[in-house]
Amino acid sequence: MSWTENLLNWYEKNKRNLPWRSTKDPYTIWLSEIILQQTRIAQGLPYFNKFIQQYPTVEALANAKESQVLKLWEGLGYYSRARNMHFTARYITEELEGVFPSDFKSILTLKGVGDYTASAIASFCYDIPEPVVDGNVYRFFTRFFGIKTPINTSKTFLKLKEIGKKMMQDYAPSIFNQAIMEFGANQCTPNPNCEKCIFISDCWAYNNNYVKELPTKIKKKKIMHRFFNYLVFNVNDDKTILKQRVSKDIWYNLYEFPLIESSKAITKPKLIEEPSFKNLVNNTPYKIAKHNSKAIIHKLSHQNLYVYFWIIKVPSTNQPSIKIYQINEYPFPVVLKNFIKDYFN
Ligand code: ADE
Repeated sequence: MSWTENLLNWYEKNKRNLPWRSTKDPYTIWLSEIILQQTRIAQGLPYFNKFIQQYPTVEALANAKESQVLKLWEGLGYYSRARNMHFTARYITEELEGVFPSDFKSILTLKGVGDYTASAIASFCYDIPEPVVDGNVYRFFTRFFGIKTPINTSKTFLKLKEIGKKMMQDYAPSIFNQAIMEFGANQCTPNPNCEKCIFISDCWAYNNNYVKELPTKIKKKKIMHRFFNYLVFNVNDDKTILKQRVSKDIWYNLYEFPLIESSKAITKPKLIEEPSFKNLVNNTPYKIAKHNSKAIIHKLSHQNLYVYFWIIKVPSTNQPSIKIYQINEYPFPVVLKNFIKDYFN
């Protein structure tokens, strides 16, 4: 039996029953693949179901407001995925008459769609022979074929694409791609059980005692530490102040309380001396209390956020404010969503 036949047999016996595996609809596949980027299936599946229910077609998604899409995405992280998806849904609906592109190059031009997602859509929906190269495939192929060049270099990427193309020849690309991803996800895992692997006798890494060393990673970017002081205004017991985030660093277009960022933890006397604090209270009498004495630590891929909430009671404000009972209509990053659930709901 050939290498690919072995793999496909393994897949047939071990595949999970996932909703996007029983369709060729490009919208459904696209949605599932965007949700599953950087996200485990157990976490992504409920979001996939919510999105399909709320927006069953590309037109339905295009007709939504961006804030509604972000609201439904709340808690999943990497929010640019949701913004790009919404943008692309509008583009397909308005510019392409609602018809999803069906060749690899055109799919690749869609905003938010890179080589991996385009290959997934092209192969799953149209059986176009474009191998997917995701984290699972990197792990599996670099170990099996003994590739030591670092991942996330174009050299390694092109090599894996080439191997994938060769291996998928004569087989259905839709099944081949699902199979290599599933193998990486369930068998060739970060801590694999090699003793029960069908490729044990031919795996380069296993036979050279190199499983733990592969894939080779490029040095990690340094983690940045940021201190976020959120000013939670309680205006006359029924209103608060929200700002839409305009900075593109994180959480673009999501909502938050007025924020004062500092380079380390800040004391109350220091905080109330900040010009932006003074500007917000604008000479109104106020009472301020720190809500959490210990920072809430929120880890993002290259940043650790140390988050403090400060409760500020004022009788009135000159700032645009919202009614507290309407607060759940706005999309928030998860650290704020949790605070709001605790504090307001
Ligand atoms: N992870 C990302 N895409 C996937 C898919 N189509 N099937 C299983 N796991 C995945």
